[in-house]
Amino acid sequence: MEKFLIRGGVPLQGSVRVSGAKNSVLPILAAGLLGDSPLMVQNVPRLVDVVTMIKLIDKLGAKVRVGVENEDCQCQFDDASDPLRNEQSLEKLIDLVCSTQENAPLCLSIDASVLHNRDEGLVAPYELVKTMRASILVLGPLLARFGEAKVSLPGGCAIGSRPVDLHIKALKQMGAEIQIADGYINAKAPNGLKGARICFDQVTVTGTENILMAAALAEGETVLENAAREPEIVDLANCLRAMGAEIEGDGTALIRVKGVKSLKGTQHRVIADRIEAGTFLCAAAATRGSVILEQVDPAALDVVLLKLEDAGAIISTQGNQISLDMQGNRPKAVDILTAPHPGFPTDMQAQFMAMNSVAEGTATIVEKIFENRFMHATELNRLGAQIKINGSTATVKGVETLTGAPIMATDLRASASLVIGALAAEGQTEIHRIYHIDRGYEHIESKVRLLGGRIERLKA
Ligand code: UD1
Repeated sequence: MEKFLIRGGVPLQGSVRVSGAKNSVLPILAAGLLGDSPLMVQNVPRLVDVVTMIKLIDKLGAKVRVGVENEDCQCQFDDASDPLRNEQSLEKLIDLVCSTQENAPLCLSIDASVLHNRDEGLVAPYELVKTMRASILVLGPLLARFGEAKVSLPGGCAIGSRPVDLHIKALKQMGAEIQIADGYINAKAPNGLKGARICFDQVTVTGTENILMAAALAEGETVLENAAREPEIVDLANCLRAMGAEIEGDGTALIRVKGVKSLKGTQHRVIADRIEAGTFLCAAAATRGSVILEQVDPAALDVVLLKLEDAGAIISTQGNQISLDMQGNRPKAVDILTAPHPGFPTDMQAQFMAMNSVAEGTATIVEKIFENRFMHATELNRLGAQIKINGSTATVKGVETLTGAPIMATDLRASASLVIGALAAEGQTEIHRIYHIDRGYEHIESKVRLLGGRIERLKA
């Protein structure tokens, strides 16, 4: 187990490159299972969730290779002459992804032309799914292309019950036979999936992605109503289109997919991680600093940037760059109400709570997506924050200074908020259970250090 030791109170200053988006790369890697030829994915971040997805795809019998991008964004594999045929062991792949020396983005090639483990059944086992709920994203592709899949039920997680009933209901509407037994979703579509009209009862991001991928190879047209509109959905749709899929309307609540007989591999560059970007902006705002983020899409952060401006930040954007300057000032409290895109992202709620903890004034934060996503509040209170929770509403009375204390991370975005709280606090903070943060932030401590933050990773 590892922990962070943070000595706070220093304004973050400088510039940092934003990594590829976790929530894009996971569905796009799963989409690799749909292709008859290799899919090359670029701008892949070095994350534990990426390792889990590689393990899963490898377990299903597809060939995965990992290379590193050079400065011209060209992929370089160990054996440049034949990147797809030269085998790399799973251990080697994982070492490459986890290497802390390197900062260059990775590229991954997934060759699912043949799944070598088909006779073992196409199983996403509990051991992998329990560590990453997004493993459910292999269900749609496997069912659509191979007519079968067995995926462990993800179960609950720290931020709420998070069922997958909407994924299952939609696949059933497309003709899949699905039984739940022994904690597994057993799905079959011996005669292939059929296009259908799917109206999601609730907006679901991975649900929309699963059905988008399934519909790409289904017979006839599928219409998705009340679909999620996140930029990561558009990124997945762009990748699927380049693979030969016929998709219209992604980025809106109504998506139409005309099924095709087969999909081929392509080369696709993953979009920037808007949540990682937002996290660094909040950290700079909370510490009264000024940062420049490189290789990011400002449009994907629209509502987050507006809220930071409300908090008193001077924001300017140019091309794929965002800069934020607090001019040494304390942030002002800003109210937050989370909602599906284009509303305020639930994945940024915890970081804004940390910033509000040191803001001038009192903020109300309402969490509408997940029922139990305030666990960071009690930990921030250990740093001296004044946060009161009442159901899905948090009231944050800003204090002039937080002070360091030992605290514990409970989930991915909660951990990011604790890093922000600790960077803003006077004195020394130890954050325990930081394995959560490595799931979704690439080398966070190197990036924080680049901005002048004092953070060390230590053995716990
Ligand atoms: C995705 C993101 C996650 C983000 C979340 C909401 C990925 C890999 N993860 O998670 O970072 O916090 O969107 O923006 O992209 N629900 C059901 N039944 C279902 C599916 C969802 O009731 O079958 C509910 C959930 O419990 C939740 C809400 O719908 O209350 C939204 O969840 P959903 O959008 O599905 O979240 P994920 O796709 O798991």
